[in-house]
Amino acid sequence: MAVFDHGQSDFPDQALVLQPESNPKQAMVAVPRPNYEPELIQRYGGAGPRYTSYPTAVQFHEDFSAVRWLEAIADSNRLPIPPDLSVYVHVPFCASPCFYCGCNRVITRSPLVGKRFLVSLEREIALLAPHFDADRQLRQVHLGGGTPTYLDCDQLDELLKLVSKYFRLADDAEVGLEVDPRTVAPGDIGRLAGMGFNRLSIGIQDFDQAVQKAVNREQDNARIAGLIGAARAVGFASISVDLIYGLPLQTARSFARTIEAVIELRPDRISLFNYAHMPHMFKAQRQIDESQLPAPEEKIRIFRASMHSLLDAGYEFIGMDHFALPEDSLVRAKREGSLVRNFQGYATGGDLDLIGLGPSAISKVNDAFAQNRRDLEGWEIDLAEDRLPIWRGLICSIDDRLRAEIIGRIMCDNRLDFREVERHYELSFRRYFADELRALEPLADDGLIEWTATGFQVTPSGLLFLRAIASRFDAYLGQDGSSRPRFSRIV
Ligand SMILES: C[S@@+](CC[C@H](N)C(=O)[O-])C[C@H]1O[C@@H](n2cnc3c(N)ncnc32)[C@H](O)[C@@H]1O
Ligand code: SF4
Repeated sequence: MAVFDHGQSDFPDQALVLQPESNPKQAMVAVPRPNYEPELIQRYGGAGPRYTSYPTAVQFHEDFSAVRWLEAIADSNRLPIPPDLSVYVHVPFCASPCFYCGCNRVITRSPLVGKRFLVSLEREIALLAPHFDADRQLRQVHLGGGTPTYLDCDQLDELLKLVSKYFRLADDAEVGLEVDPRTVAPGDIGRLAGMGFNRLSIGIQDFDQAVQKAVNREQDNARIAGLIGAARAVGFASISVDLIYGLPLQTARSFARTIEAVIELRPDRISLFNYAHMPHMFKAQRQIDESQLPAPEEKIRIFRASMHSLLDAGYEFIGMDHFALPEDSLVRAKREGSLVRNFQGYATGGDLDLIGLGPSAISKVNDAFAQNRRDLEGWEIDLAEDRLPIWRGLICSIDDRLRAEIIGRIMCDNRLDFREVERHYELSFRRYFADELRALEPLADDGLIEWTATGFQVTPSGLLFLRAIASRFDAYLGQDGSSRPRFSRIV
């Protein structure tokens, strides 16, 4: 996924109940059943980071050089067990702007841009790949955007071949593709499988045609069922869909029909994003008629009803905006405590080093982050002149690493055991984090967390305010979790 996720946005509401799994041997999974508690939303639903990384991308700085980045890669090769690799390719092109979109994309109809993009991409891979030890396997490849399927099938094939020419692609690698259903026909799916894709993520957003029209994204709903059917028939390992609530003209009643239709399609995973409306940052959003946006109470009704329907239909709540079927690897990872959070949201696969390619893509290797130039032209020029197109980055301090681990555990496990942190970092948690623990007291009083003998547990109500809880450990924000307007509202 793309840039709207780099430090921003998510969803409402609270009050959940813990329900046992059907197999009592398995861990209890918190099943949220949100109720509308306006005071909590008022208090904890303000702006906040999504914590797809810590520190978040807004902390990256521009005096971070390519030399420093290559040193970080060399350091990662020298680790006792260097982690395997994951590649994200940001393909920025879209044929028309969806008005809600907060992703980094270039609107174009040119048939030539894809070819040029692949030339630059090969340069980028050729500059970077030799710096990673050859025995580090590539476990995941993900194409996001923009619209990767702006590239035609031959170009997508070429892209995957480039990646596997320079990296050692594992036989069982997860190879995923974001699909705009307006650009792919069910008949293309077999070809995509033949190239090596085994995971699809389809952007639905909303099936309601009036909503689609209001956001300039009219699509053929019937085609989505065809795409999913075709993907199942050729054995795709995972199919996920994206939905957004909070879009213009949506109502609890209209969105219930969308959710019902999605449940019928039974994708393995569902992302139910809270519309991040930040017209000061995303120009296309200024085309949205704000008077058509659902009122906050209606938005909460939409989210609450959607969540109930998904849980009733057998989906499990992973966290924030993610749901998955019980047999999906995300649910397994959540139960086993191996869920991670990265720039694509919640993910499996543990600690892989992440290589981001394409404009605006972010990489994380060992303790360093680097982000590419956001503008397509700048990215292309750097590569044409054989420079790594790095815009900004950051090397984590020990304090950053410590806080990243804590925030990651809160976001993924919904609990924190101070002893585990003390074991890794040789410190007294209560002393080091005395201010943070004080800042958590009001959240405990409001029932969002419960103290345990050695830490705390997020309560069912608190699950919907994970970002607010995690933000108490964010050294770059105010102690009350307050942040600047570059983050979208939590609720
Ligand atoms: C890169 S887009 C998906 C791929 C493809 N371009 C498409 O539209 O189907 C990734 C997802 O980000 C989500 N998204 C984009 N802008 C958003 C916003 N402002 N608020 C919430 N979600 C957003 C949408 O659900 C979208 O499917
Ligand atoms: S197709 Fe629409 S939602 Fe997808 S990246 Fe392009 S503008 Fe954004």
